[in-house]
Amino acid sequence: MISQRAQNLQPSATLKVTGRAKELKREGKSIVSLSAGEPDFKTPKYICDAAIRAINEGQHGYTMNPGTPELREAIVAKLKRDNGFDYDPSQIICSNGAKQSVGFALLATVNKGDEVIIPAPYWVSYPEMVRLAEGTSVIVRTSFDNNFRLTPEQLEEAITDKTRALILCSPSNPTGSCYSKEDMEGLAEVLRKYPDVMVLSDEIYEYIVFEGEHVSILNVAPDLKDRVIIVNGFSKGFAMTGWRLGYLAAHPDVVKAVSKIQSQETSAPSSISQAAGLAAYTNDLSEVHSMRDEFKKRRDFMVESLNAIEGVSCFTPGGAFYVFPDISSYFGSKKPDGSIIETSTDLCLFLLDEFGLACVPGDAFGEPNGLRMSYAASITDLEEAMNRFEKGLANLG
Ligand SMILES: Cc1ncc(COP(=O)(O)O)c(C=O)c1O
Repeated sequence: MISQRAQNLQPSATLKVTGRAKELKREGKSIVSLSAGEPDFKTPKYICDAAIRAINEGQHGYTMNPGTPELREAIVAKLKRDNGFDYDPSQIICSNGAKQSVGFALLATVNKGDEVIIPAPYWVSYPEMVRLAEGTSVIVRTSFDNNFRLTPEQLEEAITDKTRALILCSPSNPTGSCYSKEDMEGLAEVLRKYPDVMVLSDEIYEYIVFEGEHVSILNVAPDLKDRVIIVNGFSKGFAMTGWRLGYLAAHPDVVKAVSKIQSQETSAPSSISQAAGLAAYTNDLSEVHSMRDEFKKRRDFMVESLNAIEGVSCFTPGGAFYVFPDISSYFGSKKPDGSIIETSTDLCLFLLDEFGLACVPGDAFGEPNGLRMSYAASITDLEEAMNRFEKGLANLG
C-alpha cells in the first residue's frame, strides 16, 4: 500500500523530540524545551497589519504561481539592498517556505544517482530531500575545531564526476556557524574548477548574524551566479514560521523548472502571507535587529554557561539561534540505573525523561559528538535549562 519512496523517508528528528517533549508536558511533567527551530517572538505588528489589510481588501484569490509581481519586485529590491545581488523578478519564485524551495530546487535539478554534497552537521531535511529527488547524499563531516565549516580541501575531495550540487547553509542550522569571506573564497576557488557543480545556498538565517555582515557565496563569487540557487524566506528573521513564505532566486531555467513543479504540486503561497512578506521587505529592519540583539545576549549566556560545565565545550556561533556543544566526554558514563550513555541520543533521552530538558541529539544532524540546543527561549527558561543540564550531567558516573 505504501510506496517505497515514503517508506524510505525518515521523519524529521527535530519534530520527533519536540513531539515527545509535548507529550510529557501533557502528562503534567515540567519540561523546558530547547528543541524547537523557531523564534519565540511574535511577528512584528506592521507585518500583521498588512495581512489584515489584505484580508479586508479582498485579496482572497490565487496569485500568480511564482508569487505576486509586487512581492517579487520587493524581493529583488531586498536582494540588492541587503546583499548587493542583481536579479530580475522573473528569476524569483515564492513558495510555502524555504523548505519547499529547497525541496523543489532539488527536484528540478537532480537526476537519479546524482551526488549532492552536504556538509555535516546538516539541517535534517537536506538528505531526505535529496533522497526524494532520487539523488545520493555525500555527507562530509566537518570538525568542531574548525567551527563546523567545510574546508576547500574537503570539498575538492568530495567532488566526483557525478557531483551535481553542494548545499551550503550559513548561518547554519544546527551549529550557528557562519562562513567568512575567506571561507567562501576558498570554496569558490574549488567550484570554479567544476563548472557542472551547482550551489544551493540556504540563507534563511541571514538576518541573525551577530558579528559583521552575512556572507553569501555570491558576495565573493558573482562569476558563479548562473549555477547558484539562493534560498531564503521570512520564517526566522521576521518570526514568521507559521506564515509559510519563502523563495528562491536562480538562473531563469531553474526558476522555470521549479515553477512547473510548483504549478502542479502546490501553486503559489497564500495571498495573505505574500502581502505580509511585502510589508516585511518594504519596511526598515529595526524590529528584526532588536530580535537579533536579544538572540545575541542569549547566545552569550549559553556559550558561557556551557563552557563552565565540566567536560562540555562549545564554540561561539556567529549566527542563527542554536548552540552545538561537544558532549562526547560523557559517552561511556553510567546513568543512576547502571545503564551506559553510548550516544548523543541516549544522553538527550536521559535529560528529557529524568530532568525534563529537551535538546536534539547530534546523531540527527550527522554529528554524533554533539547536541543542538535552540536558544529561542526566554532567559529565564535558558537559566532553568542550564541548571537541568548541569544537574543531569552531574548524575552520570
Ligand atoms: C536551514 C533551514 N532551512 C530552511 C528551513 C525552512 O524554513 P521555512 O520555515 O521557510 O520553510 C529551516 C527551518 O527550520 C532551516 O533551519
